[in-house]
Formats: sequence, structure tokens, C-alpha cells
Amino acid sequence: MTKTIIAPSILASDFSRVGEEIEAIDRAGADWIHLDVMDGHFVPNITFGPPLIKAVRNRTPKIFDCHLMIEPVDPYLAAFAEAGCDIITVHVEATRHLDRSLQAIRDLGKKAGVSLNPSTPESVIEYVLDRLDLVLLMTVNPGFGGQAFIPAVVDKVRRVKAMIGARPIDIEIDGGVTVETAPLVAAAGANVLVAGSAVFKGGSEAAYAANIAAIRAA
Ligand code: DX5
Ligand code: ZN
Repeated sequence: MTKTIIAPSILASDFSRVGEEIEAIDRAGADWIHLDVMDGHFVPNITFGPPLIKAVRNRTPKIFDCHLMIEPVDPYLAAFAEAGCDIITVHVEATRHLDRSLQAIRDLGKKAGVSLNPSTPESVIEYVLDRLDLVLLMTVNPGFGGQAFIPAVVDKVRRVKAMIGARPIDIEIDGGVTVETAPLVAAAGANVLVAGSAVFKGGSEAAYAANIAAIRAA
């Protein structure tokens, strides 16, 4: 069994010191850095964009896992690629032409991901499986950190796992991941876990290391 990837979301970090926070989670054992980009239109919150990502890119060599909660998304893909994102994930609900968006990401030389809101059925990915590197299943409604995990999505994780078969596609879970919920989604087939509040609680590098270790152990 392959190792579960832990991707802390910097949404829960101290934005006044975001560069140092990224260095701290890097040393604390993060595998990837999860970047939540929100536009106040597709989701009811606004975070940050390519300039901030570019500014912190040199703080760690680890994978920048960029979760775009923006609509439209196609006009901005190149800017996120240039800013240094390694994986670029778009929401199926925010693009009219998912196949085109995924091709555009790969044409930029990046890994292509698609995210599904909790209520979106997994059948939407059926005809793009060969264009995908990652499926991000939301276990909260996107927009805010610190929300409660929606257990109905666990069944969707199982179905997506069966759909992708032997293809090298990551299954990532985002929202309400804790030591209690991580084992449920890992057992269902997820191999990448995003965690915001569960990693950044405690506010120190030692706490981040303990929090990441606890999720991994769970
Ligand atoms: C929600 C974001 C998540 C969020 C996770 O829209 O995509 O990445 O920050 O935060 P927690 O782990 O606190 O639910
Ligand atoms: Zn996210």
C-alpha cells in the first residue's frame, strides 16, 4: 500500500507570515502544499491569486497543489502555471468545457485535477479519465476552512476508486479531514488528504509536526 500524502492547506495559516508558515509545515512533514484560490463568485470567499503563490514559491521545493475555486477558470490557468503550481485543479461546476480545461492544464506542462462538490455525482469524470492526474472530492461545500466533514462523500470515494481502476490518478479529499475522518476516506481509497485547521491548530511548528503525524498515524 502506498503512503498517504498529507497536503496542509495554507488557508488555515497565519497570512501575515505565510512564507514562514510554508517553511514550518515543510519541516513539520507536509508532503504537498495545498493552495486554496477563491474568487468571491464561484465560492462566497476571497483568498489569493498568482502573485502570492509566486512570492512564496521559493520557500519549499515541495509540490504546490493548487485548488482553483474560480469561475471562469480557463483565462487564468497560464498565470497559475507561471506562478509555480505543479498540480492545477479546476471545479467541474465552474467550467463549461471540462475536457478543454484539463487539456489546457496539461498543455501548460502541469498535472491536471478536477474537483467535485459534495452534491456532484462522480459520473461527470467518466469521459475525461484519460486526461486526469487527480480527482479532488470535496467533503465540505467549498469556501471556508473549519467546516464539518460530510460523510455521504465516503461512498463517492469508493465509486471513484472503482472507476479509475489501474490508471495513475490520485484521489484527494478536502474538507473536515481530522484524525477521526481520515481513516474513513483512506479506507475508501483516497491517497491524498488535505487538512487546514487540523494541521495548523496549536500555531507552532512543533504542533504542526504533531498534527501531521497524528493524521498520518490515523
Ligand atoms: C475549502 C478548502 C479547503 C479547506 C480545508 O473550500 O478547499 O482546502 O481549507 O480546511 P479544513 O481542513 O479546515 O476543513
Ligand atoms: Zn482546497
